[in-house]
Amino acid sequence: MRLFIALNLPKKERERIHRATRALREAELPVRWIEPDSLHITLKFLGEVRPDVVPGVEGALARAAGGTSAFSMLLEGFGAFPTIRRPRVVWLGIEASPELRCLKQDVEWALGDCGFTPETRAFQPHLTLGRAEKAAGAGAFRDLDELVAGLEFRGTVQVRAVDLMQSHLSREGARYTIRSSARLAST
Ligand code: 2AM
Repeated sequence: MRLFIALNLPKKERERIHRATRALREAELPVRWIEPDSLHITLKFLGEVRPDVVPGVEGALARAAGGTSAFSMLLEGFGAFPTIRRPRVVWLGIEASPELRCLKQDVEWALGDCGFTPETRAFQPHLTLGRAEKAAGAGAFRDLDELVAGLEFRGTVQVRAVDLMQSHLSREGARYTIRSSARLAST
C-alpha cells in the first residue's frame, strides 16, 4: 500500500484556504487542483509499504510524536516548485519553525530505525494546492506570478498529531485516508 506521513488541518482551515485560492482555480491554468478535503502537509513520503511493516511504522510515529509537544504552525505565502514560470507544484507556504523542523527530523530518525531512507533534500514545508499537467506548454504560466502576488492568506493552526496516510490511486486521481494518528505530547 502507498503510504506517507502528513499533518492534517481542521476542515475550517482547509475551507479558508480553498476560498482564498479561488482566483487561481478561475484562471484556467493547466493545473489539477486538490480538493479542499485532500489538502495536507506531507512530512515524509514512504511509497509502497508491505502490510507487515505498518505496525513498525506506527510504533516509530508514536515515538516521534510522543517526544514532541503540540505547537502552532503558520501558513502563509504562495509559490511553486521548481519555479513559478515552469511549475510542477503550486503551494501555500508553511513556516519552517524550529518545532516543525524538529518534528520532521524526529520522524526521519524514527523511520530510519525501521529501514526507511532518510530524506537528504532540504525540508521545504508546503501545502500542495495543485499539480501542473505534464503536457502544459511553456507560456501557460506567464500570469501565475502576478496571480499569486494578488492572493492573501495567513493562518495559524495547532499541530496536535501526526498522521499515517494512505494514498489510493485511481484514474480520477489520488484519494487520501488517515490510517492512524499519533498524538503529540500535550503542552
Ligand atoms: P506534496 O504534495 O506535499 O509535494 C501523497 O502522495 C503525498 O506524498 C503528496 O502530497 C506528495 O507531496 C508526496 N509525494 C508523492 N510522491 C512523492 C515522491 N515520489 N517523493 C516525495 N514525496 C512524494
